Amino acid sequence: MFNTIIESFRIKMVEHIRMTTESERRELIAKAGYNVFRLHSDDVLIDLLTDSGTGAMSAKQWAAIMRGDESYAGSPSFYRFEAAVQELMGFPLVIPTHQGRAAERILFSTMCKPGDIVPNNTHFDTTRANVEFTGAKAVDLPCLELADLSSEFPFKGNMDVEGLKKLFEKEGRERIPLVMITVTNNSGGGQPVSMANMREVAEICHAFDRPLYLDACRIAGNAYFIKLREPGYTGKLVRDIIREMCDLADGCTMSAKKDAIVNIGGFLATRNAELAQQEQTC
Ligand SMILES: Cc1ncc(COP(=O)(O)O)c(C=O)c1O
Repeated sequence: MFNTIIESFRIKMVEHIRMTTESERRELIAKAGYNVFRLHSDDVLIDLLTDSGTGAMSAKQWAAIMRGDESYAGSPSFYRFEAAVQELMGFPLVIPTHQGRAAERILFSTMCKPGDIVPNNTHFDTTRANVEFTGAKAVDLPCLELADLSSEFPFKGNMDVEGLKKLFEKEGRERIPLVMITVTNNSGGGQPVSMANMREVAEICHAFDRPLYLDACRIAGNAYFIKLREPGYTGKLVRDIIREMCDLADGCTMSAKKDAIVNIGGFLATRNAELAQQEQTC
């Protein structure tokens, strides 16, 4: 019995990539000091360094670029983009950025000061850099199952809820301007976060009156894992699960180069009008 999966799209363009031999690859990686960041991408046959900006865009996405309008202000392409984010995620205030790290830079430079602490299930490297650039400390609080390589726990991207509570109790809410959850937990092996965990984290944030932000770049993938693995979600649409995740949060940073499958792009979204005003002038 064969189960043939036919892809529901046509490939219209091909791009040449340079084939390398094993001995060439060995020489190149040795020359780069075994640091993949120092390789020239032309020498890389299969690039597993990042998932960022690696998706092929659809005919409609390319066509939308042609519909793009270069007005100095008030461009209709911005309003279409803003409406899509508002409709899907429910965050009313949307600030476009060229990619995710720019949204992080604006968020943390507006909210953090030296001596502050920002907890996250695991900070992505650009997120950590943007937190620490402000003089604040980036604290990773992954769930304990993440370190157990033999564990089959379905949501190893979860945040350590007890750890978060203890951090608030020890350091005080004044030093913690916001909490962030990265979905999926990319620096923690791309592991998903459960809705139950996000709900618990949101409750702690409410108890200490602190905002919860999502690093949302793999939110669609995370929502799909919730649909597959979390009781009560099998029959739900991924877009409804995304909305439920966002409803627990006060805002998000987004690298659209992943689940939104564009070559470049991102945004910062929030419910906080005062903050959005400061962020827009950043
Ligand atoms: C979890 C996470 N956050 C933030 C970023 C930064 O996004 P960008 O590459 O669009 O600046 C990335 C990827 O690069 C990421 O994986």
